[in-house]
Amino acid sequence: MTRKRVAVLISGRGSNMTALIEAAKDKNFPAEIVLVVSNRPDAGGLTSARNAGIATGVVDHALYGKDRAAFEGTLQHLLKEYRIDIVCLAGFMRLLTAPFVRQWDGRMLNIHPALLPAFKGLDTHRRALEAGVTEHGATVHFVVPDMDSGPIIAQAAVPVLAGDSEADLAARVLAVEHRIYPQALRLVAEGRVRIEGGRCMIDGATTETDAAPIPPDSDR
Ligand code: GRF
Repeated sequence: MTRKRVAVLISGRGSNMTALIEAAKDKNFPAEIVLVVSNRPDAGGLTSARNAGIATGVVDHALYGKDRAAFEGTLQHLLKEYRIDIVCLAGFMRLLTAPFVRQWDGRMLNIHPALLPAFKGLDTHRRALEAGVTEHGATVHFVVPDMDSGPIIAQAAVPVLAGDSEADLAARVLAVEHRIYPQALRLVAEGRVRIEGGRCMIDGATTETDAAPIPPDSDR
């Protein structure tokens, strides 16, 4: 088995990045994390990545002003240098342009802390509480030019409980993020995910539930 070479793009603490690194320590995992890139030099996740012995890079967006093409050009150069097959966005807080995203069509994943298509964008936990939903969760999807809109690879739901604070709900969601991101990367790295008509079809899956796996111990 040739393991896919993965870069994880972060902007902050990198707990999802760490979940991917941990999963990929298993030699049978079909992908290896070979590079972590941050757009912020002070991202805490960079230290965790270095401690895990993974190559890190910083492409500081602040140095590029409004020139997104130049920022993305540097990023793309780095990804090429490391012969990256799959890019995982994990709390990466920069919008990427359509030309950049198209270069990674079907090979760039993102994790979003909500059950897409509900609550695209920021502050998902606060908005979920304000909306009074009884279920919230997380989604791993392919990245397309429209934000938080690509084909869904995996989702998991958690209950919203009476008296939840934003932090309570965020912690409950984060726990399932850490579980579904490695699951989704595994499926993609194994070549089991096909995109048909804007939806993901998982080879070997026989039901809708298989196609968007919900962990057995989730509360859904
Ligand atoms: C996660 O909630 C992720 O879903 C969102 O940003 C947060 C990043 O957290 N996109 P971490 O840096 O992975 O800890």
